[in-house]
Amino acid sequence: MEKIATKIKTFMSEMNPEFIETLHHLHENPETAFCEYNTTAYIKDKLQSFGIEILDIGLETGVIGLLKGAGEGPCIALRADIDALPLKEESSCPYPSRKDGLMHACGHDIHTASLLGACHILSLLRDEIKGSVKFIFQPAEEINLGAKKLMSLNCLENPKVDSIWGIHNSPEIPQGTVAVVNGPIMASVDRITFHIKGKGGHGGIPQRNADPIVAAAAVIQAAQTIVSRNISPLDAAVISICNIRAGEGTTNNVTPEDVTMYGTVRTFNPDIQHLIEQKLTQITKSISEAYGCIGEFTYLYELPVTKNNEKLYSAAYDSVCSIGATPVNPPPSTGGEDFSIYTAGSDVPGFFYWLGVRNEEKDCIYPWHSPHFKADENCIAIGAGTYAMSVFQAIKNKT
Ligand code: NI
Repeated sequence: MEKIATKIKTFMSEMNPEFIETLHHLHENPETAFCEYNTTAYIKDKLQSFGIEILDIGLETGVIGLLKGAGEGPCIALRADIDALPLKEESSCPYPSRKDGLMHACGHDIHTASLLGACHILSLLRDEIKGSVKFIFQPAEEINLGAKKLMSLNCLENPKVDSIWGIHNSPEIPQGTVAVVNGPIMASVDRITFHIKGKGGHGGIPQRNADPIVAAAAVIQAAQTIVSRNISPLDAAVISICNIRAGEGTTNNVTPEDVTMYGTVRTFNPDIQHLIEQKLTQITKSISEAYGCIGEFTYLYELPVTKNNEKLYSAAYDSVCSIGATPVNPPPSTGGEDFSIYTAGSDVPGFFYWLGVRNEEKDCIYPWHSPHFKADENCIAIGAGTYAMSVFQAIKNKT
């Protein structure tokens, strides 16, 4: 294992100019969810140049590659997401987006470049691989639909995957580090919708109406007591109502017929998810009724918790150490990841790393989805090395 790690480290430094060039190309050419046509073509070209087979599972965007090693053995999947955001770049990056209003503001270009780097490294180590590697370049992570699409196309079958590994960058941890977290790393993501129907009328003659706006205000206030009064202070949960729709234009004197609100719920525990669903349903119905309105509430389970499998933990930790990166153990994030769809929807264990991209001196300090988001590009070699080494550790772990 030490010999392999030494070879990977050599490739990491020799191939660094290639990694950086790939990153620049991807960063300059962002494409949003399910529109990643040029990115898909670019990835396919690269895979072909590395001699990696492209599997046709019926994808319009996104790519699945397969590298067969020298012997029989487990199939290890490595996954990166490839989509960008509809956001105008305002970062100090010297190779900014060339597409107005589109930006890799979540750093999925980093993940794609890292996985392409791992493809190149692993293609040169093919004879050392006792098994196979499936490369999953996934579209549409930002809208939580890419992994679902791939799972509907049986992406973890033919050949059947034994474990799946993913990476997301993190501007919270320094470049040179990789977060190796045992257990939950990213929250579940659920969508909540409230519809409160009242009786509209003249805003100056309120006694004739049933005002859904006052009812909605009471529902919002009560919803915020769930986290503080119904959930243990030792557990984490977020309930945010982020969108309220009522009334027409700038009208100021008409009480509307109804109010619609949309929000998000984040937790790390399915029991808390169910509790929040139950309490919000009750609050919406009962409070609306008290205000003479009818309240309807829907809770959509969108993404499960991204939880690292404890059986893969030591393989992950050893992978990071052996390629010369520093493992760190930051607290989990209440952001979500559709990587969880692969593990929740199958019996395949998964592990998800965070790749440190923070560097104060280079202005790489801004959070995901900020128009100023910028990563220290030296992270790509570590991302590629982590992906590549994980394959060998995962095969060793399995056999
Ligand atoms: Ni992301």
